[in-house]
Amino acid sequence: MNQVYEKLLKCYESVKDRIPFEPEVALVLGSGLGDYANDMKVETEIDYHEIEGFPVSTVPGHAGKFIFGYVGSVKVVCMKGRVHYYEGYPISDVVLPARLMKLMGAKTLFLTNASGGINTSFKAGDFMMITDHVSIFAPNPLVGENIDELGTRFPDMSHVYDEELKKTIKDSAKKLGIEIKEGIYAQLTGPSFESPAEIQLLSKLGVDAVGMSTVVEAIAANHMGMKICGISCVCNLAAGLCANPLTHEEVQAAAKEAAPKFKSLVTEIIQSMEK
Ligand code: HPA
Repeated sequence: MNQVYEKLLKCYESVKDRIPFEPEVALVLGSGLGDYANDMKVETEIDYHEIEGFPVSTVPGHAGKFIFGYVGSVKVVCMKGRVHYYEGYPISDVVLPARLMKLMGAKTLFLTNASGGINTSFKAGDFMMITDHVSIFAPNPLVGENIDELGTRFPDMSHVYDEELKKTIKDSAKKLGIEIKEGIYAQLTGPSFESPAEIQLLSKLGVDAVGMSTVVEAIAANHMGMKICGISCVCNLAAGLCANPLTHEEVQAAAKEAAPKFKSLVTEIIQSMEK
């Protein structure tokens, strides 16, 4: 059997009896949203360490567990902490958690992240609904023998971010009086931040925000036929667009500041998904 698939099935075997319900929505918590579970009615937590072979993040501020609970009446599995390609994991491990949540039953994947703003109308603290992505600067997670059990060899990527969910996001933001921008997100590998020249290049390519996650997960989830949506919290202006050097601490501080608003937006969106 395909080794990537075999590993995925092993992980599923080691969690399946501990799952309290079949989740409807899989939520990936980006920087700043880590304590989102405080707003949920939690049923079960599964530490990543307890899952055989599961990739565990090494980044401070990216603690790792699955949290199963309710947002309103919606059954959610949320990932507190994700692994990033820059930590040295093979790309198949980076997308393993998204695939695992699909095996658990989740049909919708809600991705969140922190990003650097490239669009000159953006400022730190803005939220951007991801309308499309640029993946060509990150490794494609579907390279290698295709896992036919998950999806087709050459999946279409014309509509990765679900139209209906985009409308739900916009309606929810409007209802709460939260401004939400829209744009194209590019994933680079990191861990270094981009150079100003790279940001100029991305700007010319039409990219609005840049980060080190999300796109590979979206590709793997789209391959499996999940409905996908994503929101990025713009935590800084990208390199060359701001006077100061970029730091992880600055990104985390900005994400933390935006967190209360981000949380209420995420809650409203998930509650609206059941309608
Ligand atoms: N670049 C890449 N990733 C990021 C940034 C950035 O400027 N800000 C937050 N994550």
